[in-house]
Amino acid sequence: MKPYKLKYYLLALLLPALLISFVVSPNNQSKEIEFKNGAVVTAHGEASKVGLAILKDGGNAVDAAVAVQFALTVVYPNAGNIGGGGFMVYRSAKGEVNALDFRETAPAAASKDMYLDAQGNVIQNLSIYGHLSAGVPGSVDGMIKAHAKYGKLKWAVLLEPAIQLARKGFKITSMQAREMNKHRSDFIKYNQPGHNYLLKEGDWQEGDLLVQEDLAKTLELIRDKGRAGFYEGITAENIIKEMQFGKGLISREDLKNYKSIWRKPITGQYRGCKVISMPPPSSGGVCLLQLLKMVEPYDLKNMGWNSVKSIQLITEAERRVYADRSAYLGDPDFYKVPVEEMLDKTYLKNRMADFSFEKATPSSMVKPGNFGIPNKGMPKKESEQTTHFSIVDKEGNAVAITTTLNNSYGSHVFVQGSGFLLNDEMDDFSAKPGVPNLYGVTGGEANSIQPGKRMLSSMTPTIVEKDGHLFMVVGTPGGSTIITTVFQTIINVVDYNMGMQQAIDAGRVHFQWLPDVVQYEEIGVDSTTNFQLKQKGYATEVRNGIGRTDAILRTPSGLYQTGADKRGDDNAQGW
Ligand code: DON
Repeated sequence: MKPYKLKYYLLALLLPALLISFVVSPNNQSKEIEFKNGAVVTAHGEASKVGLAILKDGGNAVDAAVAVQFALTVVYPNAGNIGGGGFMVYRSAKGEVNALDFRETAPAAASKDMYLDAQGNVIQNLSIYGHLSAGVPGSVDGMIKAHAKYGKLKWAVLLEPAIQLARKGFKITSMQAREMNKHRSDFIKYNQPGHNYLLKEGDWQEGDLLVQEDLAKTLELIRDKGRAGFYEGITAENIIKEMQFGKGLISREDLKNYKSIWRKPITGQYRGCKVISMPPPSSGGVCLLQLLKMVEPYDLKNMGWNSVKSIQLITEAERRVYADRSAYLGDPDFYKVPVEEMLDKTYLKNRMADFSFEKATPSSMVKPGNFGIPNKGMPKKESEQTTHFSIVDKEGNAVAITTTLNNSYGSHVFVQGSGFLLNDEMDDFSAKPGVPNLYGVTGGEANSIQPGKRMLSSMTPTIVEKDGHLFMVVGTPGGSTIITTVFQTIINVVDYNMGMQQAIDAGRVHFQWLPDVVQYEEIGVDSTTNFQLKQKGYATEVRNGIGRTDAILRTPSGLYQTGADKRGDDNAQGW
């Protein structure tokens, strides 16, 4: 063969291999951005700017978080909210940690079988769309509590940027235009004719100005009257009118009685790092720590990133963790969640004892662990729209908040006259044991509907500490994929030494016991790995856009490296 022909021949042989290695290696092109004095990473540039301005004006991380929560209500109506709920994990610069639960509650008139027909079957969509799907909102009370305990700036100052954005309007992105157009028919279907806040004649286009005057007025009421501006007075009246129109259950008393709750975070060690995360009613912290502790005895680094072995190990841990989640996690004020038992070292070690690299363990062979507690009922399915933001201030105080209406635009019900959307968080309860919810997860007694109870969540706002210093602030939306996404972001940094943006850009894999299918982003698993996984008995399928992670990493030199997920319009600001 002539030398030049040989060259082409070799190139033809090598090219596929080069392409594969490009596709499967965690993105080396990720550009790491670092800031000295603090950073804010959110789902929308306008909200990130609001947070940064508050930090620069002398506000701390909690001040910035409150301002961002209200700003996201305006600029990211899919998930940013005052009509929903969420969780905050906090770590002060000195290392004090705390967790705030502002999850929605079931209305007092809610009942176990409220989404079942006369035959006992789940009525489709009743817990997902419309007035009956809404829980009692918690976000406003949560922000008030967070500010009262940790805030430095005046409450009114924190509301002002959101009010201005609502009144003057902001330019929507192309992704937002697409999404609002996609939901148009549901906005019409679930609302009274008249004010339909996210509708316009014809289609939305990128750059259109979205003005929300009624929302601006509601935010002013919250600014001036605090809790009473939302849970009482005009806003409460408008919520009640909505309930009367759409046969919803939220009452005046429900609104008056709503209380967010300070809880002790879930904490644990992973390879020398301290992981601080959300306790029940989120399943996030418990499941995240179970996963980390189950893989800790293995050398993930040596196995290689998203190699056959590492995916097997992680999948098998996830299989066992999500089985436990289905049976034992729920609102701790209504159900005794066996947190200690679930995180017990020996339990977790034994739980992985029957796992083998030879072949997959079918999910039918894995049951929830046995803690001597009655396990009545199997798991349910979870949707796609929630939002997470991460903030660190100049002193090093850190806030991780994940907040949601549940599905994108929640129940799709706008509170007429008040200009905001109500959540459809009731779908996170188990409507019937063993019947999957929107995210495919199932549940039983621990997560059954009861008046005043909080529905189980997967939201996992998390802060990681290393050598006594802040190390990482992380979280994501994604329903049941939240836990596995936060887990992968942490191991990408801790085990695979990735930078923050690189750890977020890297392709993701998700598994949740049921369905017994490994889902992966195309950029995350190459065809050879996929083939070998199948040979070992794993069913696999491509699923694009798993999670939207917004996170901050403190480098050894004390700089803040930001990671904003390119799967969305997410944006990092810092100084
Ligand atoms: O609390 C939960 O787990 C769900 N309501 C979260 C929903 C979600 O993440 C949808 N987003 N992508």
